[in-house]
Amino acid sequence: MPPLVATIPWLIAALLMGGWGWSAWHHRRARRKLEHTALTLARISQAVESASDAIGIGDFEGNSVYHNRAHMQLFGYTVEELNAVPEVGVLFADLKVAAEIHASIRAGNSWHGETEVRTKDGRTVPAFVRADIIRDESGAPVGIFGVFTDITERRAAEKALAEERERAARAQRLESLGMLAGGVAHDFGNLLTIILGNTAILRMKSAELPPDAGKRTAAIESAAWRAQELSKNLLSFARGSAPQLRTLVIGPLVAEAAKGAVVHSNVALNLDLAPDLLPVKADPVQMDQVISNLCVNAVQAMGDAPGRALEVSAINQQGWGGAASGTPFDGPVVRVTIRDNGPGIPAEVLPRIWEPFFTTKEKGTGLGLATVYAVIKKHGGSITVESEAGRGTVFTIILPAVANAGADASAAADQGAS
Ligand SMILES: Nc1ncnc2c1ncn2[C@@H]1O[C@H](COP(=O)(O)OP(=O)(O)OP(=O)(O)O)[C@@H](O)[C@H]1O
Ligand SMILES: [Mg+2]
Repeated sequence: MPPLVATIPWLIAALLMGGWGWSAWHHRRARRKLEHTALTLARISQAVESASDAIGIGDFEGNSVYHNRAHMQLFGYTVEELNAVPEVGVLFADLKVAAEIHASIRAGNSWHGETEVRTKDGRTVPAFVRADIIRDESGAPVGIFGVFTDITERRAAEKALAEERERAARAQRLESLGMLAGGVAHDFGNLLTIILGNTAILRMKSAELPPDAGKRTAAIESAAWRAQELSKNLLSFARGSAPQLRTLVIGPLVAEAAKGAVVHSNVALNLDLAPDLLPVKADPVQMDQVISNLCVNAVQAMGDAPGRALEVSAINQQGWGGAASGTPFDGPVVRVTIRDNGPGIPAEVLPRIWEPFFTTKEKGTGLGLATVYAVIKKHGGSITVESEAGRGTVFTIILPAVANAGADASAAADQGAS
């Protein structure tokens, strides 16, 4: 078979060449694999470096090995700076948490949870922290991988939501209490009218009565008057008769109400009312009631210790957040603040001050702030309180301003300013 014999050298040559080709292919494949691995590693490190969460890698001796950019931005330390800090757990506001994470990692478990972290410039930031053990191919632990997610915004949103829920619940509570109180006050007022009418007759006939009876009648009458006053307050809170809205600049009204509140006290009054206050739509009688109630409360809280001062200010402002009370509002508003440097409202009392009948005073009706709240709400405004034990209390009222006030406003403003 000469032709076959003739093809053998070609076959060998082809095999040999094929072998060379085979090894070159292997070589190329290995190189491509290497290149691919290098590229993957580069991408992993770029991804870690560009991640928006703060990422840090450390060893088991507590040394930092690597920080990404977000870590630098959150904490402010370079790796070298962090390694130079002698204390352990310096990234955590609470050292107990740092110890807990350390113990968990030592025991071979990852850790995750929400905590406060501490930055180089001493700020504390709420963060979700995840600490994982880095293991090599054989599963042996080689390092710690820490991821910190800044949850400031989420916390703020949660707080705003909780406040909003609390506000809605309070509004509902006040509404149902108001309806009940209004009903009782109305009937009560009628009964008191009968009592007062009859005691007045008795007073006139006191000469015909036994000597002691006159004194007793006077006592009944004065108690009935007080009850009448209470029932009137109650009605004004409950019904909060619909405000008779007028466009007016409330500066002069605020000033008069504040002066009236301090007149029989040793409290100094500092008035700071912007001269260009925008007009608002308000019922002057109800608004006077609001400012008076707040100022009287402040004066009563301050007592007559020396150095007591009531600061009442009003300014224009663009919009208000409305997170704590009321709907957010973009337009111009007038902000009135009533600040005292009295004893402050204890934290456990603070949530209750708006409730009708809640009072810490022997002779208080506890209807002042409930009425204030109802009036401001009917005006489409907002009222908030901040208080610090020993330092004082500040009430802030926001009323939407009338942007294009027109003739009505200028007339009312002129009248108000005169
Ligand atoms: N500026 C303030 N400083 C400290 N505590 C205050 C202040 N304003 C209000 N309070 C607290 O809030 C409670 C409720 O106030 P509110 O005006 O509703 O009722 P009151 O003043 O007790 O009674 P009334 O208004 O009928 O005289 C007060 O009893 C007081 O404990
Ligand atoms: Mg009061």
